[in-house]
Amino acid sequence: MVDAFSRTRSAPGPRIAAPDADCARPWPPVGERGTRTRAALVTGASSGIGAAVARRLADGGDWRLVLSGRDPSRLREVAEAVSATAFAADLALPGADRQLADFALATVGRVDLLVAGAGIGWAGEFRDMPPHAIDEVFGIDVLATLRLVRLLLPGMIEAGSGRVVLIGSLAGCVGVRDEAVYSAAKAALGAFADALRYEVRGTGVGVTHVVPGVVDTPFFERRGAPYRRSRPRPVPPERVADAVRRAVVRGRDEVYVPGWLRLPCRVRGAAPGLYRRMASRFG
Ligand SMILES: NC(=O)c1ccc[n+]([C@@H]2O[C@H](COP(=O)([O-])OP(=O)(O)OC[C@H]3O[C@@H](n4cnc5c(N)ncnc54)[C@H](OP(=O)(O)O)[C@@H]3O)[C@@H](O)[C@H]2O)c1
Repeated sequence: MVDAFSRTRSAPGPRIAAPDADCARPWPPVGERGTRTRAALVTGASSGIGAAVARRLADGGDWRLVLSGRDPSRLREVAEAVSATAFAADLALPGADRQLADFALATVGRVDLLVAGAGIGWAGEFRDMPPHAIDEVFGIDVLATLRLVRLLLPGMIEAGSGRVVLIGSLAGCVGVRDEAVYSAAKAALGAFADALRYEVRGTGVGVTHVVPGVVDTPFFERRGAPYRRSRPRPVPPERVADAVRRAVVRGRDEVYVPGWLRLPCRVRGAAPGLYRRMASRFG
């Protein structure tokens, strides 16, 4: 099997586009795209897990990368480091998903891999959660992600190959106290991954659900509540990126990072009463 990550990388410079920029022209022009044969779109690439995934995919040199994030300067930094093209967009805004998909398709011709890493959290008691924050968490973590998949999936099916990687969370598998909406959003993503996988079976397109535990990124600071539990211990975002890369190469359906987190999810599925007793005892 050819390792998709081991070929020589050509180095087109980064291009940062704003959502309202003219982005209909292919870039680099067709015929000047070097040796990179497949194209990946990574959302949430301006920070944390998405940025680490972008760096990991760029390592082997086989992928043409289109990166997306909100913050143009952080996005530019990542894009420059990995010779990617970038599109800064707030995916909560109406039409931004279509602009991003159009930009990606115009830039690379075809998206073979979507890594949907853009996401936000909110921590605190549900009764205190402002209604707009409910909309924001579901708007980015679920709706924007599903809309982007909807836009890119038909091209993958038509091409007879492709992979959608959804960055879920342990919270979606077990339900975490004070993260009710975030847990529900990530559970929705997991259910979507399972259902979509059945639907695309036989088309050559795969769906990977990545389930990280706690990852050392600005995620917690941004949601306004630092991570204070002793377990699970935070892992570096590079570990999630490695898992994503392996899952893509091996065509995996579901991966846990770290791998032992599969256990609490299985226990909860098989014996929910026991799981709840253990969770209330050990936190
Ligand atoms: N950190 C963890 O412990 C952990 C655990 C499990 C799952 N996850 C999931 O992993 C994914 C990445 O999180 P992370 O830890 O890497 O957090 P992060 O460092 O805060 O990165 C989040 C990314 O999502 C982007 N994003 C947020 N809102 C957006 C919007 N409205 N439009 C476009 N992009 C938006 C951010 O863009 P800007 O930076 O440009 O604003 C950033 O690139 C999320 O889905 C998160 O739920 C994280």
